[in-house]
Amino acid sequence: MKTIIKAENICKTFGSGDAECKALDDISLEIKEGEFVSIVGRSGSGKSTFMHLCGGLDKPDSGKITVNGTVITDLNANKLADFRCKNTGFVFQAFHLEPKYTVFDNISVPLLISNTPKKEIKEKVNSVLEQVGLTDKIKVKTAKLSGGEKQRIAIARAIINNSPIIFADEPCGNLDSTNSDIIMTMFEKLNSEGKTIILVTHNMADAKRTKRIITFKDGKKIDDKTN
Ligand SMILES: Nc1ncnc2c1ncn2[C@@H]1O[C@H](COP(=O)(O)OP(=O)(O)OP(=O)(O)O)[C@@H](O)[C@H]1O
Ligand SMILES: [Mg+2]
Repeated sequence: MKTIIKAENICKTFGSGDAECKALDDISLEIKEGEFVSIVGRSGSGKSTFMHLCGGLDKPDSGKITVNGTVITDLNANKLADFRCKNTGFVFQAFHLEPKYTVFDNISVPLLISNTPKKEIKEKVNSVLEQVGLTDKIKVKTAKLSGGEKQRIAIARAIINNSPIIFADEPCGNLDSTNSDIIMTMFEKLNSEGKTIILVTHNMADAKRTKRIITFKDGKKIDDKTN
């Protein structure tokens, strides 16, 4: 299997002086195409920071990250935005939807960024809404949706560009067990269809549903187990 994410000796420090915090301390790891991986560890262990760096949302202080054949740590801001658009989809605990906008408008954001023609946007929005089972909500403002529905819309937005990688940071953190199961089942299906998925979670039952569990502690990788 091809390596899709390769992180080499990643260090990231926030703040300075007394406020200095070493969020990532020499992390190296590889993720293969088509893997479903979870990252676990205590609060503050560096999980989100690592995910942001691999998804091109931020840059490390040192080290090299290669994603889908591109050394993203070398890219300027414009190229990095283009990289994110083509390669990554993000799902966050707090959904990060625009509450006053409709489901259609929220989901079509990644396509507007890539200048997709209107007709194609409509087709693609309908297709991803079908995948998450919410076609009837297309005109509803996202503020009106339940938590589980919001996360399904966030997943629809994450997959609309057909990106090969999905980063999900505690996607079930605000959901009850029924909705968590719906979201995890959706990720399992997307993974079986070929997507590489990196899931950050505090829930060991969810982590055990992935094939590989990586554990972080104090900015270091202390365990990496494949079931
Ligand atoms: N933008 C920032 N500015 C300053 N410190 C930060 C910033 N982002 C993260 N940190 C610090 O870096 C460390 C790692 O944070 P990170 O958010 O990666 O942890 P985490 O494992 O995702 O935690 P949680 O499980 O609570 O989400 C923490 O000590 C955090 O306070
Ligand atoms: Mg976090």
